[in-house]
Amino acid sequence: MEEFVRDYLTASVESEQDGGRMRWYPWHSAAYRFNHIRNVVELSAHIASEEGAGIDVTRVAALFHDIAKLEVDQDRHAEEGARIAREYLTSHEEYPSSFIDQVVRAVEEHSYQGPVADLPRETQCLVEADILDKVGANGVALVLLRMGYESRTHTDAPEMIERVLERGEEALDRVESQTARDIAHRRLKRARWFDEWLEDEIAAPS
Ligand SMILES: [Fe+2]
Repeated sequence: MEEFVRDYLTASVESEQDGGRMRWYPWHSAAYRFNHIRNVVELSAHIASEEGAGIDVTRVAALFHDIAKLEVDQDRHAEEGARIAREYLTSHEEYPSSFIDQVVRAVEEHSYQGPVADLPRETQCLVEADILDKVGANGVALVLLRMGYESRTHTDAPEMIERVLERGEEALDRVESQTARDIAHRRLKRARWFDEWLEDEIAAPS
């Protein structure tokens, strides 16, 4: 199943005529997207096991949640991902239809911007993990990578890391489960440390 998702992402990038500006950013690559998906699979399964949600539904939904991200527009990727997940699950092995329905629903609703408490538990675990993957040390690494693509100098880093901190605060506001809140606190603390260390080491702008 993992291989199917990785191959799908690779084929999406290879078949595009002109990916436009976004194609140069690391998050437009199949490698980045697949790594993000694996992070979300692990994180969401951890949250599900701690919070008593269905681990298998959560893992499979996390695996498919961004499968269409490089192929269609952002506002359609959840719906398209749900369609691909249904097609895959109904044509491979004998998954119970209730399992397939739960997975498909979670993929379809993972872009929901309202309160996560409105969602079924498994979808909630997926949404929380998706939010958490953009904060903390991983968020810092991604923003530094982006600076390289934008030819910025490292003196811009504190300003960019501020954005990671803001995102971390937003994540804290948005996640509901105690497990996700603990992870958000831990990750935000790491980004704050990095911000402080950096300020300590680089000269203030003249
Ligand atoms: Fe995602």
